Amino acid sequence: MIDKSNWSISKHTNQYIEDTFLPFDEALDFALNNSKKQNLPPISINAVEGKLLYMLTKLKDAKSILELGTLGAYSTIWLAKALPKDGKVVTIEHIEEYAACAQENIDHAGLTDTITIKTGDALKVLPQLNETFDLFFIDAHKEEYIEYVEHAIRLSHPGSVIICDNVLRNGGVMQEHFAKDYFEHLAKFNKYLAGNPRLESTILPITLPLKDRDYVDGMSISVVK
Ligand SMILES: C[S@@+](CC[C@H](N)C(=O)[O-])C[C@H]1O[C@@H](n2cnc3c(N)ncnc32)[C@H](O)[C@@H]1O
Repeated sequence: MIDKSNWSISKHTNQYIEDTFLPFDEALDFALNNSKKQNLPPISINAVEGKLLYMLTKLKDAKSILELGTLGAYSTIWLAKALPKDGKVVTIEHIEEYAACAQENIDHAGLTDTITIKTGDALKVLPQLNETFDLFFIDAHKEEYIEYVEHAIRLSHPGSVIICDNVLRNGGVMQEHFAKDYFEHLAKFNKYLAGNPRLESTILPITLPLKDRDYVDGMSISVVK
């Protein structure tokens, strides 16, 4: 029952989708709790976004995924759950403590053979990769998104899907006076995506409850031509 005295369109919309479409999942719940216990920052995607990544992986019929920015592997586990039995995820994280916690969460989820964590700076690890991937989820250092996508294109095939998180920042990318620091990089990044002749792209807006206020962020979705 919704308490209308404390109405938040973001909070209640997310809660409604969760209650309606997302049954309790012990492995994902463990990943969040264990990450919290080990003091990882609470900056993973939420459950509704996780289900969106899961659906996009299924729609793409992806068998191989590259993720940048593992944290505690919450998004990684969502992605891996959508794969067929022989599917693989490679995920890159530069903080060793986070990677160690992510490995515990992956092992607990029974996905040890599906997910490989590569510990290191994404821009140092990426040049070492040569295999192609069906889907990319980019959620690491926002200022390096253009370089990440350049690598993703190199590691793609026609039809590969590239998804990047946090590309709207509550309008921060649109307003000149907000367009400072990484907002400026993200604004540049969105223009880069739109103008990239190798890609067809758009942004899916996502409403989030952040510190009890409504906040609109978004994921860019690109298909490699
Ligand atoms: C927003 S969190 C990722 C959340 C995760 N995708 C999820 O939803 O569960 C961003 C992660 O990227 C990692 N990261 C940031 N810059 C990085 C870099 N240059 N190379 C590798 N990892 C990086 C951070 O340490 C952090 O764990």
